[in-house]
Parts: sequence; structure tokens; C-alpha cells
Amino acid sequence: MIQFYLNDKKRQYTGNEDLSLLNYLRLEAGITSAKDGCSGQAACGACTVEINGKAKLACVTKMKTLENAKIFTLEGVPENIRKTIGTAFVNAGAVQCGFCTPGFVMRTKVLLQNKPTPTLSEIQKVLKPHLCRCTGYKKIEDAIQLSANALEKKQELQINKTSGKIGQAQPKYEAYETAIGKKKFVGDMFFDKMLFSALKLTDHPRARIKEIDISAAQNLAGVVAVYTAKDIPGEQKIGLIFKDWSLMIGEGEITHYIGDVLAGVIAETEAIARQATRLIKVKYEIQSPVSNVFEAMRDDAPQVHVGRSNTLETTRVHRGDAEKFLQKAAYTAEGNFETQRIEHAFLEVEAAIARPQKNGGIELLSQSQGVYEDRRQIALILALPEDMVRVTLVPNGGGFGGKEDLSVQGHVALHAFLSGRDVKLNLTRDESIRMHPKRHPIFMKMKLAADENGKLTALHLRAVGDTGAYASVGTKVLERVAGHATGGYYVPNIDLEAKTVYTNNIPSGAMRGFGANQVAFALETCIDEICEKAGFDRWEFRYKNALEDGLKTATGQVLQGVGIKASLLAVKDAFRQAHYAGLACAIKNSGVGNGMADFSDVKIEIISPERVLIQHGWTEMGQGVHNMALQTLCEETGLSPEIMEVKVDTKAQIKTGMTTSSRATALVGNAVIDAAKKLVKDLKNSTLEQLVGKIYAGSYLCDWTTKPGADVPEIITHYSYGYAAQVCILDETGKPEKIIAAHDAGKIMNPMLFEGQIQGAVHMGLGYAISENLPMENSQLKSSRLRDCGVLRAHQTPDIEVIGIEVKDPVGPYGAKGIGEIGLVPTAAAVANAFYQFDKIRRYKLPLEVGS
Ligand code: FES
Repeated sequence: MIQFYLNDKKRQYTGNEDLSLLNYLRLEAGITSAKDGCSGQAACGACTVEINGKAKLACVTKMKTLENAKIFTLEGVPENIRKTIGTAFVNAGAVQCGFCTPGFVMRTKVLLQNKPTPTLSEIQKVLKPHLCRCTGYKKIEDAIQLSANALEKKQELQINKTSGKIGQAQPKYEAYETAIGKKKFVGDMFFDKMLFSALKLTDHPRARIKEIDISAAQNLAGVVAVYTAKDIPGEQKIGLIFKDWSLMIGEGEITHYIGDVLAGVIAETEAIARQATRLIKVKYEIQSPVSNVFEAMRDDAPQVHVGRSNTLETTRVHRGDAEKFLQKAAYTAEGNFETQRIEHAFLEVEAAIARPQKNGGIELLSQSQGVYEDRRQIALILALPEDMVRVTLVPNGGGFGGKEDLSVQGHVALHAFLSGRDVKLNLTRDESIRMHPKRHPIFMKMKLAADENGKLTALHLRAVGDTGAYASVGTKVLERVAGHATGGYYVPNIDLEAKTVYTNNIPSGAMRGFGANQVAFALETCIDEICEKAGFDRWEFRYKNALEDGLKTATGQVLQGVGIKASLLAVKDAFRQAHYAGLACAIKNSGVGNGMADFSDVKIEIISPERVLIQHGWTEMGQGVHNMALQTLCEETGLSPEIMEVKVDTKAQIKTGMTTSSRATALVGNAVIDAAKKLVKDLKNSTLEQLVGKIYAGSYLCDWTTKPGADVPEIITHYSYGYAAQVCILDETGKPEKIIAAHDAGKIMNPMLFEGQIQGAVHMGLGYAISENLPMENSQLKSSRLRDCGVLRAHQTPDIEVIGIEVKDPVGPYGAKGIGEIGLVPTAAAVANAFYQFDKIRRYKLPLEVGS
């Protein structure tokens, strides 16, 4: 028996001595403020607790080491300290998705009791065990300093109050509850008599499944059922655009990648379910995987999907006579560029809970990026009408595009439907890395031309993207590669081609930037090379060629509200003054466009004078879409943010697409403005109390974009774009010292959230440039450990200065543009160009090799 104190209460433990403290806290003690972000890999710090006065990772602390230990979780931290640190995190804007935050708050508490006034480098040093994928750490460091200051001066911090209107640094919705670990993510939720699922994944990326023997698993005590593909009542294949993704691979079928599911087990506990998956015996007929994207395109290559070409789609964009201008150009630059696969590394791995309903339907608690898409696909799997599937969003711990495709939601819905019991499915970090789509590796052959006056004349691009085993949204990513190939510049003659190609590698799909990052790296490298060859000034050349109102994108869209030149002017002095500096610009679309509708509906319900409910369909994943909805309503009505609640639930029947393409701010904002018109009118003659029970509906629809290649008088590929210029400055040893990011947001809706979004994106972009990678060999991962993904930690993240630019957009609410993705579009290019200034080595491959 082990005796210890947990939050000052004596406890005794007689179970498995090798159990981790984290599992004890979460599964036995009912304490969920300590989060599980890495499944015991000691990689993320989200599970930090205090043990005998020291900050420790609960996931690698075994129960047998805790005899007489004094353990504190956030629930046991004295209220004044918890409130001070939690409030400091909120006021500093250090909470985005917030999954990592309780771990940082706990770390701060222990740090400050030992060192009340730490320096910045001392703070960065103690944060080494922690990962945050959203913030770029700068606001976390600010929050720790703010906490130190307040605790030392015994100041009582209060959450900043604002009018909530547009332009106010209104604290992030639910940030305080999230910071102190009270807000529940899906994995933190438990229901009476709930069962737990685990999945059996294939051992081989390409193999015919000859037999799946589930008998031993079925006979394990505590196992309730084992399901395979033949138990699916509806459609086996699903997908966002193409229906090619098998929920499970059945006997006689061929696997496509290492994340394919062969069976699912439900059991009394997750541990039993996982143990049972190890008892499932599979007979494979192993086949050689198609691992190389160029081999996949050969006529004699095996088909990843039988009966379908491995070349899924080819996007072509032509204008003018690129060949002629490339031949007669005064200056050209060219190269074969290669970018790597990377992991989203959202801190909260995939989890979902499904609950059977009395009417035979299913309710799902989901953390995905599109609850209405979940509903559509689950209805197909279960052969139910959509209105018998209800999906409620539980705001998630990060997505970045990696939670767009249906994953655990489909399996857990099936398990609950077949068993008639509430079921939870939570992936491990290893499974998460194996299963969800990544950023596309893209191979690009690019040639760029300029005339003797320094004007860009032509661009030629041949790009091939490894989209892996399933289509996901890969074709759209490669469309963006072509559509963003000319970047922030006007190039009159273009010949662009981008191919989306299946392999047996992990699928590639949506990830923040969505193809624009990859092609920006190639383009900006070529621009620097032309400048060097011709002796053009690198800033001047970019300014002279920058897009402006009335000029065309690569796809031929005439732009309005272009902020590239304003962004370039904002970084000019810093760029010129730095010894080793790289510069790059960016453009990034808002909305899916390309002839597809971008739309949003909202409902505003007056529940009581103290409660106004805003319902929309977009996923809150740290980016702040709930704030955008709430602040727009405050702006329009003058109502207080304190009475507002925001919810996403398919029961509201306000169908919305995926939260993607930096579009939620514009679409939800315009829909709220529409709904608020009627409310404002009513408020002129009535009090809120008199309006109780009324529901105000609003909507916004953009249906005027044009399909690629359509024969139309005016090309409108997207309803709007964001613009940026970034500078990377190296120190005297060649290390990134500072990144300056000037971003045109049209209208900065919330300056604190804006800065946080850009800082977090720049941090992600720097990792993409220098450290992040997820290599595969023979379609198997070389490592599925989070630590090996190369996400930068606080002490590795340089200073990030954000400069806001406001050139109004014709479509966005108050002129706002989407900023969710663009923050990292130019970063890798700026870093590569800075390295060249330092060592004169032109680099064509990401991550950039340094010191060679
Ligand atoms: Fe840190 Fe999201 S706020 S991981």
C-alpha cells in the first residue's frame, strides 16, 4: 500500500504500482486539470504537477515512487495564487486553445515559490519540458512575469474588462476556466457506465488482409465487443471531397497506410480495450508499398486505390507566354525545391464520445474542425438520416487543419451505435501521429524571370505533392500551390502545374498555410537569387513588383484592398539595419472559393436579460472564433460581453462547412452583423427582458467565386486575401535572433488575439524552416514520438515582433481579413534568405540544413 497526500488530503493506493500518477489522477481520482498530451512520452509538460515542492511530469511518475509524497494539482493550489497566475495568463493573452495552459500555470506556481523574480532566460530554462503549439511562448513568458510582479507586490489581479467591441483586447472566451484546468476537453469527460474503445491498426502500409481473428480479444475479461468492417451498417468509405477513406479495412481488402484501422474493441476500461487489440491476430499478404511520389506516377506503378490512377488531379494555370519571356529574360533563377512532411502537433490528441439516443440515433461530443461534416459522414456510416445524428462541439486543444478529416468520431459513433452504450475513444500520441493527415511534402521545379529593369516577367512551375494514402483535401492544397505561386507579386506570364499524387504514405491534407508556405519558399529563394545576380536591392525589388489594387493574382483575379506594400514599408528600416537579414512576402486566401460556396448562419437567442446565446457552426480551436462572434455582436448592439454565451451544436441546424481557409472571422462576423440588424431594431423599442425568447437569425453567403479554368468574364478565385511581409534577423553566430512580422489584417478585431495568432504562427513557421520533420521510409514512420517532430521550445524561440497593418478588405466585417494561416506562409522563406546572407549557401530543401 502506498500512502501520500493529494491536495492536502491523505490517500492510500493499493493498485498497480507501475501506474502513472497521471492515469491515477485522471482515471481514479477524477482530477483532469493535469492533461494528457503525449501519452507518457514526457514530451509536452501538459501534465505538470507539484510533488514535494518540485514541478514534475505526472505521466512518467509511477505510483510506487510516491510514498509519503505531497502532491498538488491546480485544484489544491491556494486560491490567491491560482487566481493571480490564471488571471495573468488570461490578461497577457497566453491562453489560445489552452490545452497546455494548466501545465504552464502549475510550472509558474512552483517556479515563483522558489524564485519570485525570475529573469526571462530563467523562465525559458524552466519551460524546457513544455510545449505550446499555439502561442509561440511570448505571451506565456509575459504572463509569468506578470504573475511574478503581482505576487511579489501582493496585487490582486482582475480579468481585464472591456466593452467587447471591435478593436478591444477582450480576453479570450472561457480563458480563465481553461487556464486553471476547469474547462473540460473531450478527454476530460466521463459518463456513468461509459465504455472505452481502442483501435487495431495495420502493421503494414500495403497488404491484403487475409484474416482477422478476434476470438482471443473477444474472450478477454472486460471486453464487451470487437467490431470489424463487416459490422458497418452503412458506407465503409467516407471522405471530405472524395469518398476513398475506409473507416476500417476488411478481410480480403488491401490496406493503404499505417494508420488504417482493422478492428475496434470496446471494453470496461481503456487499458483492457488496448490489451485486447494486442490479442487480435491478423494474417497479411504483404505487398511493397508505393512510397516515392515520382515512382507512383509511373504507368507500371501499383495503384494505391485499385482501379484509380495514382495521379489524383492536375491543376494547370496559364497566362501570357511564359516560355518566351523565360527565354529572353535578362535574369533568371531556378531550382528544384523540396519541402518536408510535418506533424500538426496539436496538444490535444483526437478524442470523441458517442452516446446512443432513445430514438435510435447518436449524439457525439466532438473536437473536430467541422461538426456538420462529422454529422454528414457519420450518418453515411450508420445508414441514418442526418437528423438522427447530433454533434456538439467541445472546443478543442488545437487543430491547425489536422482535425478536418473524420477520424475517431466515425469509429466511436459506430461502437456506440452497435453496442447501445456510451463510448469514449481517445487516441494515444503515437496513434495520432500515425493516423491523421500531415502537411504535404512537395517537390517543385521552379524558374523565375525578370527584365533588366527589375520587373518580374515570367514564372514556370512544376509541382508534385505527395498526398499519401487518401485524398483528404490534398487536391485543394495543390490548387493553392498553383494559385499562390506568384506570391505577393504581379507576374504577367505564368505556366504552372501542380499534381496531387497518391502513395502509401500517411495522407497529407490541410495544415495551416495549405500549400502557400511551400511555394513561397521556392519563389522567395528565386527572387533573392535574381537580386543577387542583377545587383538589385532585395527590398526595392519586392516593393516594385508587389501586388497592389487592380493587379492580378496567379489565377487572374483582380485584387482590391491589397496590403503588401504597406507591410513591406513597415519592415523596411529593420531589414536595412540588420547585418544578416532575410525578407519574404506572402499572400493567403480566405475562404475555400474556387466556385464553392463560403457561407455561415448564426442564431442569437435572448435567453434572459443576463444571457444571450450566440450559436454558430465554426470550431473554436484556440484561434478565437468565439471572440469574433461575440465581439461583433457587442459592436453592433452595445450589449455587454459578460452576458454572452457561444455554442456550436448541430441541433441548431445552422449548417456550416469546415473551419478552414482563414474564413471563419469574415463569415461569422458578417452573419452576426446580419442577425444583429433585427435585434438592434427591436432594442430601440424594447428592453432585453421584453425580448426574452426571441431568436434572431442571420446569414452570409459568398457564392460568386469562380471555378479554376472557368470561361468567365471576371475571375474571382477567393472572396478575399491576407497579406504580409516578414524579416528574419540572424545574430553574429548565424542563429535566428528576431523575426519581424508585418501583417495586413484589414481590421484588427482584437489586438491581443491578433498578436498571439501571428506569434504562434511565426513560431510554427520557424520550426518548419529549421527543425520540424516527420520522415518515412518504405511508408513506415522513422519515429512517431512527439519529441522527434522538432517543435521548437521556449528557449529555442527568438524574439517575435508583430506589426499590424490595416488596409480594408471589401468583403470582411469592418474590413477584416483572415489571419489564421498567413502568419507562417513567408517565415521559412525569410529564414532561408537570412541564412544565405550569413553563409552564402543557397538552400533548396526544408528543413534547412544549417552549419554545413
Ligand atoms: Fe498552448 Fe494551445 S495554447 S497548445
